[in-house]
Amino acid sequence: MARKPSARPRGTATEPDVDGLTPEQAAEELEALAREIARHDTLYYSKDAPEVSDAEYDALRARNAAIEARFPDLVRIDSPSQRIGAAPTTGFGKVTHAVPMLSLDNAFSDDEVTEFVARVRRFLKLADDDEVALMAEPKIDGLSISLRYEDGRFVLGATRGDGTTGENVTANLRTLDDIPDRLRGKGWPAVLEVRGEVYMRKSEFLALNARQVRAGAKPFANPRNAAAGSLRQLDSSITATRRLGFFGYAWGEVSEPLGTTLKEARDRLASWGFTLNAGKLCTDVGAALAFYRDQETGRAGLDYDIDGVVYKVNRLDWVSRLGQVSRSPRWAIAYKFAAERAQTMLEKIEIQVGRTGTLTPVAHLTPVTVGGVVVSRATLHNEDEIKRKDIREGDTVVVQRAGDVIPQVVEVIIEKRPKGSRPFHFPDKCPRCGSLAVREEGEVAWRCTGGLICPAQAVERLKHFVSRDAFDIEGLGGKHIEAFWNDKLIATPGDIFRLADRRDEIASREGWGEKSADNLFAAIAQRRRIGLDRFIYALGIRQVGEATARLLARTYHDFDTWRRAMAAAEDRTSDAYAELTDIDGIGPSMADDILGFFAEPHNQDVLDDLDGLLDITAVAAPKTSGSPFAGKTVVFTGTLSTLGRKEAKARAEALGAKVAGSVSKKTDYVVVGADAGSKAKKAAELGVTVLSEDEWREMAGL
Ligand code: IVH
Repeated sequence: MARKPSARPRGTATEPDVDGLTPEQAAEELEALAREIARHDTLYYSKDAPEVSDAEYDALRARNAAIEARFPDLVRIDSPSQRIGAAPTTGFGKVTHAVPMLSLDNAFSDDEVTEFVARVRRFLKLADDDEVALMAEPKIDGLSISLRYEDGRFVLGATRGDGTTGENVTANLRTLDDIPDRLRGKGWPAVLEVRGEVYMRKSEFLALNARQVRAGAKPFANPRNAAAGSLRQLDSSITATRRLGFFGYAWGEVSEPLGTTLKEARDRLASWGFTLNAGKLCTDVGAALAFYRDQETGRAGLDYDIDGVVYKVNRLDWVSRLGQVSRSPRWAIAYKFAAERAQTMLEKIEIQVGRTGTLTPVAHLTPVTVGGVVVSRATLHNEDEIKRKDIREGDTVVVQRAGDVIPQVVEVIIEKRPKGSRPFHFPDKCPRCGSLAVREEGEVAWRCTGGLICPAQAVERLKHFVSRDAFDIEGLGGKHIEAFWNDKLIATPGDIFRLADRRDEIASREGWGEKSADNLFAAIAQRRRIGLDRFIYALGIRQVGEATARLLARTYHDFDTWRRAMAAAEDRTSDAYAELTDIDGIGPSMADDILGFFAEPHNQDVLDDLDGLLDITAVAAPKTSGSPFAGKTVVFTGTLSTLGRKEAKARAEALGAKVAGSVSKKTDYVVVGADAGSKAKKAAELGVTVLSEDEWREMAGL
């Protein structure tokens, strides 16, 4: 955003020379400058309504700096020169959640719910006749927030954000009737974080949109967006007029447990003044599915949107044993309602090229509203999918949308097919760089073989590099990457960290200015220090997602060790290769992709370059002081009687162990369950310590 040119240019020429200022005058002017610059910051960052141009703003700061240089004793704590890093891009402060806010895995069929329960049973190693009671709750379609109470008073409210860090929206949340300022009743823990959903009632949504239209403003697409927009108002009195609601359904940090079951915890939350949505305790899958049908039938009659049902394990001791995988808990699942559908025309099939060269067909549709959202594109997945559904350009198709997932083409209405239409022919050349495209045996995807000579792949890789879970550079989104790439400002990841060398070119771009350029450089500089796990993920190696990146970082700890190990692992008979494929969760095909990445000279150049530019920090093993398993390699074999294999693995890792799939000289312990076979024998041969299940439980303090 550029600042507006001002009608009243303010130049430094009219002001007295810094050298001629008395200390009194200097102090007075510094105070005025601090106030004025802060006011412009608010106008620019929070109100999106700057009053001065970039140049005028810069002149104010320069004057401030010049006076401070002459009178260093007069530097104020609220001086603009004392603020560290980039200014916030919004008017809200950041809040780091004491306990991360997770998201939920989805089930899309009855079978998937049944499988969820089976998975819980397997993980906990329950007997067939052990009852797994589930709390079923409607899934509210709003936005999740966290409310912190200390000694019964509401002290902090934050949005979910990326799950780790959200925005401080306390003042706005105080305007909600459903959020008590002080807890009622008694027995609440000194620290209590209540989590739940802020939503807008359908009736309120319709009334608000009518007001928006009357006022000439854009109507909101759906109640969810309207709720989000209302919560992010910089002026709380506007939020207050939107009459948002809140349902509690979970908690974050608590200084005391809320009970032994979810049912009990819910009852207590309600007794302290929170509104909870009607939940139902279901003792078997049949009852859980019946609850879903009831909600599906009843949803139209509710004054708020629900988009499914959430099932949660009721016993809280099991909840803590189940823990989480990546970003979703193992103890809960969302069963979404069937997707909403609509018919429209498929105008054209476009082939997109992804970061690893995968060619993905995308349907361009005549825009159509599906479940309150306008859809104009849908993924067609791959060649087989197009063939199977015989999707052709010009067809009338049924599209569906469920929750946040990408819209899909469900089927073709054959009766509406125009005469003379022809089946779609998948290209065997990359549409972006013209290189040969190949479809390897056993794979569904066509892939461009152009590597980094393919501009599409190069750009997609860079976009991935700066994306939220990778380098997460504030103010440098996909659109900027594309524009900078087109204008040859960046070609490789390292170039991002050299952008500041091209300050003038960036500052003079349309929509930029010196101030915004400097903010970008500050945001980039902040990311020069990065954990090895994020760094590995950012490289965008095929098949290496966040979880795998974390595994690699935990195994090799620091960048140099990892790089050396991968070089050594190129020899598939080496110990290094065995160590790589021994990491539980990394198979030969993934290892191939990782080593393939290292075998590419261009990638080696990128790594050398980044190594020189960045501070890649080692990933510490989990805190395991006193654990006998810290840093040890453990192999499980045979059937354990008290816990499932996954739980055993999760426990061992929490104690600092690496869990490997096969026994080698590097193994420290082999834990043998019933019917252990060759691994137990091999352990004995190699002289590795063998533990029985009981011995392991004892050592692990279970
Ligand atoms: S439990 C550990 N219960 O759905 C996860 N979530 O798709 C805690 N949501 O991020 C969430 N109604 O914003 C839970 N009754 C309910 C819910 C619910 C809506 C939202 C929540 C969550 C999202 C996941």
